Amino acid sequence: MKILGIETSCDDTSVALYDSEIGVAENLLSSQVDLHDQFGGVVPELASRAHTVNLLPLVEHLMDRQGLRPRDLDGVAVTAGPGLIGALLVGLSTAKAIARAADRPLAGVHHLEGHILANALSEPLVLPAVCLVVSGGHTELVLVCEVGRYERLGATLDDAAGEAFDKAAKLLGLPYPGGPHIDRLAREGRPDRFDLPRPLARDPRLVFSFSGLKTAVRLAVEALPRPLADQDVADIARGVQDAIIDVLCQRLFQAAEQHGVPAVYLAGGVAANRGLRGAVEHESRRRGLHFVPPQPVYCTDNAAMIAYTGHCHIAAGRHDGLDLDSFARAPLASWR
Ligand code: KG4
Ligand code: ZN
Repeated sequence: MKILGIETSCDDTSVALYDSEIGVAENLLSSQVDLHDQFGGVVPELASRAHTVNLLPLVEHLMDRQGLRPRDLDGVAVTAGPGLIGALLVGLSTAKAIARAADRPLAGVHHLEGHILANALSEPLVLPAVCLVVSGGHTELVLVCEVGRYERLGATLDDAAGEAFDKAAKLLGLPYPGGPHIDRLAREGRPDRFDLPRPLARDPRLVFSFSGLKTAVRLAVEALPRPLADQDVADIARGVQDAIIDVLCQRLFQAAEQHGVPAVYLAGGVAANRGLRGAVEHESRRRGLHFVPPQPVYCTDNAAMIAYTGHCHIAAGRHDGLDLDSFARAPLASWR
């Protein structure tokens, strides 16, 4: 079964081909990072316009490389939400047109399900599991009972973890998105210099809060001489990274223990963080839990995870009509 996947929920235009016989045959990405960098964050209207410019040429490129015509596909999968509505609509309209022209099934995919199932591109999932979904827009603990059946166990009360990385990076004068820069610099930073807050550490609920971290970083930065020395930036990056990883890990394993699952997973852009992957690997080994980190290329937004998720739905006979709508937000557990 060959499924074309389309992902345009935010600032990356991505198309992929999932082939049930060989796995991910193609995963192409056109990044808009340079476009949005000058604004320090994603500008929704610019993102939609760039998707309009980039998407169809990228689909054509994929089909040419694979020597495929639309009728060779067995279905089209597209992110229906959550995301920026204008950006989603570009992907949705394109996917509908291709599905209609080729007379093939269309599958709308929840972006978070895509992130979670990206783990299945590395190995068959060990379920039930608790998955920590950490991206620029989401920080959630999800109980994955089986493919298609999810329960939200907890989430952030304010900023997402990726947002916390990006805001801290901005205060340090680093480019957008800042997560990968903090990750890189933290390796040269000293762990004992900046002890940044771990909010809600004593709260028994499965919740997160990252908005206070930004204030703590701002105060730390303001107390330093300008221009910031490289070592100062690296030390703060280390403080930020350690604080975020600490609370993410604590909650992930708290949830795993409460639900008695044999496995944990990471998903979303922040799952590419080397410190987080190492910390979760270490703790799961200590507790005898199964954990295999997702491939970094399938952590940040990509269409391979959407094509794969669409494949699961289409193979199970779940299709959408051409009246499929986009949505800005909707919990994964109650979607559909
Ligand atoms: O999943 P994603 O590509 O887009 C959303 O759905 O939001 O996640 C993007 C987020 C950004 O906040 C980015 O800074 C963060 O993931 N990110 C990282 C790393 N790579 C990407 N954060 C920390 N360390 C990384 N290595
Ligand atoms: Zn995402």
